[in-house]
Amino acid sequence: MAPRFPSAWLDELRQRADIVQIISGYVTLKRNGHRYWGLCPFHGEKTASFSVDPERQLYYCFGCKAGGSVIQFIMDIERLDFQEAVRFLADQLHMPLPQLEEDPDYQRRRDQRDRLLAANREAAQFFHSTLFTEAGKPMLDYFKRRGLTDNVIRKFGLGASPAGWDTLTRHLQGKGYSLEELRLCGLTVVKAAEPATESSPAKPQRAYDMFRNRAIFPIIDQYGNVLAFGGRILGDGQPKYLNTSDTPVFNKRLGVYAANLLRKERHLERVVLVEGYMDVVSLTQFGVPGVCATLGTALTAEQARLLKRFAPKVYLGYDGDSAGQNAILRGLDILQAEGIPARVLDFPDKLDPDEFIRRDGIEGFNSLPAISPETYRMRRLKEQHDLSTQEGRTEYAKACAAILKNLEPVELENHLQELMVQTGFTRDVLLAQIGATLPKAVPQAPPKRESFKRSAALNGEDVRAEELLISLIGTGRLPGDIANEEDFTDPLLKNLYVDLTRGRSAASLVEEQQDENLRARVSHLLLTPPSENTDQLIRMAQDCLNSMRRRRVEERIQTIMRSINTLTGNDKIAAMTEVQALTAKLNRFKSAR
Ligand code: UTP
Ligand code: MN
Repeated sequence: MAPRFPSAWLDELRQRADIVQIISGYVTLKRNGHRYWGLCPFHGEKTASFSVDPERQLYYCFGCKAGGSVIQFIMDIERLDFQEAVRFLADQLHMPLPQLEEDPDYQRRRDQRDRLLAANREAAQFFHSTLFTEAGKPMLDYFKRRGLTDNVIRKFGLGASPAGWDTLTRHLQGKGYSLEELRLCGLTVVKAAEPATESSPAKPQRAYDMFRNRAIFPIIDQYGNVLAFGGRILGDGQPKYLNTSDTPVFNKRLGVYAANLLRKERHLERVVLVEGYMDVVSLTQFGVPGVCATLGTALTAEQARLLKRFAPKVYLGYDGDSAGQNAILRGLDILQAEGIPARVLDFPDKLDPDEFIRRDGIEGFNSLPAISPETYRMRRLKEQHDLSTQEGRTEYAKACAAILKNLEPVELENHLQELMVQTGFTRDVLLAQIGATLPKAVPQAPPKRESFKRSAALNGEDVRAEELLISLIGTGRLPGDIANEEDFTDPLLKNLYVDLTRGRSAASLVEEQQDENLRARVSHLLLTPPSENTDQLIRMAQDCLNSMRRRRVEERIQTIMRSINTLTGNDKIAAMTEVQALTAKLNRFKSAR
């Protein structure tokens, strides 16, 4: 387990990390008033709507509403998770990581990890430079036969493992890596020494290269670490691809091939996920942006979440054979469970993406329709049912109904039309069937912070008043004690109020918001105070408080009045007394206006 950072240490990191300086490394900022402005790095724009507030150590884009603390900025721009972004910043600021020093075991594993990554890097360089030597000629010829340009070969760092038994192993031993380290990397196979038996003489320990006489695809993660390798056999033979098994630095279920290139692409609309190394290289060479591949496994939830960091949508472009088609259905399930919008690229004639783009070119690729998951699933179901029989049509309609139940009405409409034509059932019957498949309780994942969902009963005006107050208090225009906790009904705003009046910094409050929308909302509140002068502001705040408090009193009166007839004796008298007092209070509010 990676350690959690102590909050005092995180505060120090936030204080030391000057947000203007850090962001200036990515965006050209100009000072205007007490803020800095620049072109937003998160969406394409020509006029500067990206602002950095040095005082509050927050940034906010008025265009795309991205916003947050310096840590959030690093997470978004470098595509790192929180832990990674904190490490990244600590490293830049030369701040030692706190708990790592107290945890010798964690430190030891990190040291080992660094050694193995360095060995992998050396190996990748060795393979790549070998490609352009005599020993690498068969592999270079192979890549050329498959139509790859020098440019794309360099881009992916493709390489050649020589035919000898231990060329790489000896090379890396010469660089100071031990056999044990090379074994852990999966680069070297080490056979233990065997004592003599009656039938055979003693054998010494033997070590040979894992990858021999293969064309090499290095697997590099989004931070540029070389994690593992895939090696393709040059002709026919088994296995076609030899891959590094899981090692202390590589878990094939967590990463995707070409993550290093994905990270560099900005404003990607979608990631195209394919099955094979060659598919990625080939599509990229033809100019398709954002292509990557899983590493010989079905898509995992972890990989889906990783892809979400790079683009808002995922296109599944698996092979057109039946294995690929089944993998698409499983992939759609995973993406749907993670709430990631997905589309399917259905390659014709059982072609894989590499074969298809070589045949039909980039134009052919770009004109492939991006099929919705429902259409794709229905298409597959149609193949499995005999629509010429009543029974087949009925079963097909039922199966489709189950697929369509989660759709929004407008999306549903298109599919309904199609289904009516295919099955002959009327619209009402199909709708009833879809309705019947709706489970009693919709099994949707609960929102991350349920308590922060604004209650539907909450009055919109109240929320706006509360927001204004938070904005004024959060930006230091008004003191916190102008209001009190009970004034807030919106749970998010109430929490913000409590935290702000306890002296928490705006930056740490923004950072805390897990949900992107909430984060945007909070950074907006804490960064965009109204521009009025102080007298006007105080009046605005008082108006807000008055209307909030008045509404609360009105609600309380209504609640009591609704139950008053069920009360008797002292309870009834107490209730009526309270109503009297509340009404008097209400009148005071009204006369104050
Ligand atoms: P494919 O068999 O579809 O190969 O495997 P491909 O990608 O089209 O490769 P080329 O075009 O013949 O060179 C798809 C992916 O499955 C994994 C690899 O990641 C491969 O890219 N695989 C396949 C293996 O790991 N080992 C194998 O032996 C075969
Ligand atoms: Mn192929």
